[in-house]
Order: sequence, then structure tokens, then C-alpha cells
Amino acid sequence: MSPASLVGTGGARVQIEGVHKEFPVDGRSTPALVGVSLEVSAGELLCLLGPSGCGKSTLLNIVAGFLPPTGGRVLVDGTPVTGPGPERGVVFQEYVLFPWLTVAQNVEFGPRLTGMEAARCREIVARYLDMVGLREHATKFPVQLSGGMKQRVAIARALANNPSIVLMDEPFGALDAQTREVMQEELSRIQRLEHKTIVFVTHSIREAVYLADRVVVMTRSPGRIKEVFTIKLPEVRDRFAPEFTRYEAAITRLVKEEVAMVRE
Ligand SMILES: Nc1ncnc2c1ncn2[C@@H]1O[C@H](COP(=O)(O)OP(=O)(O)OP(=O)(O)O)[C@@H](O)[C@H]1O
Ligand SMILES: [Mg+2]
Repeated sequence: MSPASLVGTGGARVQIEGVHKEFPVDGRSTPALVGVSLEVSAGELLCLLGPSGCGKSTLLNIVAGFLPPTGGRVLVDGTPVTGPGPERGVVFQEYVLFPWLTVAQNVEFGPRLTGMEAARCREIVARYLDMVGLREHATKFPVQLSGGMKQRVAIARALANNPSIVLMDEPFGALDAQTREVMQEELSRIQRLEHKTIVFVTHSIREAVYLADRVVVMTRSPGRIKEVFTIKLPEVRDRFAPEFTRYEAAITRLVKEEVAMVRE
């Protein structure tokens, strides 16, 4: 099999159309998201930022098909989302690896479920473990890994299913600052190879400016879209470039407005 045939198939378009979400709180229906409309292009990396409780995870769960919206809808390449699907992979903050399986078996789990032949599964595992730099740890169990390594396994596992969309909810939130930067560099490199459509939730403005094609800033709860920034920086970004810092400052100002209002 040629290496090209193992390469991911690229991204799908996501349309979020007038999404509302209400949750019952003390017997009353309380809005969490109000009229969120957003289009994510195929192959785009979109970061969602906003104060705690503004509905970022709720929105991601609606796109994943884990939660139904109260109103509005989500389309993937024109088809309405009615539940989870294999074209949408998720990587969340907590490491949800199977502790009784090795690193390689965790990555292989999804492809195996599809009935794929063992030799091809092994090729896929090798490709994605190489991509996240964990090939020499293939036979280890999750308990033997650091937080950053576990999160890299989670990313390899999501990509091994060849999703066109990857939904990431604060995937690096539990990592130390240095590991986090390394992970950002790795994700950016993987994205240049795979061109998935990625929706990435973070609290870190620097992380968003480093990774995103566009950054969406949400309002405080109930969440709406406050502003969308297109990040016009080179693919490989320099965190110390003046333009980088300018985006960071502009976005920080907007996020702070919302956080200040939460505190008032
Ligand atoms: N299952 C649920 N039942 C009731 N309320 C919920 C539920 N899930 C979320 N909420 C409420 O919806 C709002 C949005 O929550 P969500 O977790 O989406 O916020 P978030 O932006 O991801 O916050 P954080 O940055 O802290 O992760 C909050 O007010 C939260 O209390
Ligand atoms: Mg959240």
C-alpha cells in the first residue's frame, strides 16, 4: 500500500445555523446558547474563546451530536446532524483512553471496529503514532504515560478513524506550559499534513492565535458570537512576532470585556 493511500481524506464543511440551547435549571428553561450561526470551511481550524459558562462545550457537544439543540441545526457537508457519527472525532480535556489497552491498541480500536484487515490497521497505527512521536511507546499502557503523552495518544486515536472533522474541547488544558506549546506545534504540523476541519475550544488566547485560521469570541452566558477574527499570519507562526502580539492584544481586550461583565 502506498503511503498516500493512508493519508487522511481532509475536512468537511460545518454549518451551524441559528443554534439555540436551553437547559432546565430549577425547573425553568434557561438559555445557554442564543442564535449561534457559524460556517466552518473544509480544512479550517477554528478556535472558540469565551468566558467560563458561555456555552463553548455545549456548542461542541451539539456539533458532535451528543446533545440535540433546542432550536436551529448543524449540517456536515450539507447533511443535518442527528447524532454522533464516525466523520466527527472528538478529543476532550480528560484523557479517555482505555486503561487495559496498550498505546497501539488504543489507536487501533476504531479502525478495528470498522472490520478493517489487521495489516492495514497496523499501518494506520504506525502512521499516527509516528505523527505524534509515540512509536517507541506503542506497547506501553496509559498508566505508564505522562499527561502530554496520553493526550497525544488521544489525538492519534481520533485521527486513526480518519474523521473529516475533529472537535477538541480544551485538549491541552491540563498540560504544563512547555508541554502545551509543544503540543500546539505538533497539532499545527499535523493539520498542515491532514487538513481536517477542526473546532478547538480553549481559554488560552495565545493558543488560539497560534493555531487558528479564525478565532471566534463568544459573549458571556447565554453565549452568542461576539466577534470573529481572521488570523492573517503565516502557517508556521512566530509567537514573538509583533503581528502575533497585536492579535493577542485585540482578542484579549474583547474577552476581558465579557469576563468583567460576568464579575459585575
Ligand atoms: N447538562 C446540563 N444541564 C444544565 N445546564 C447545563 C448543562 N450543561 C451545561 N449547562 C449550562 O450551560 C451553560 C454553558 O455551559 P458550558 O459547559 O457549555 O460552558 P463552557 O463555555 O464550556 O464553560 P467552561 O469554559 O467553564 O468549560 C452553563 O451555564 C452551564 O451551567
Ligand atoms: Mg467547557
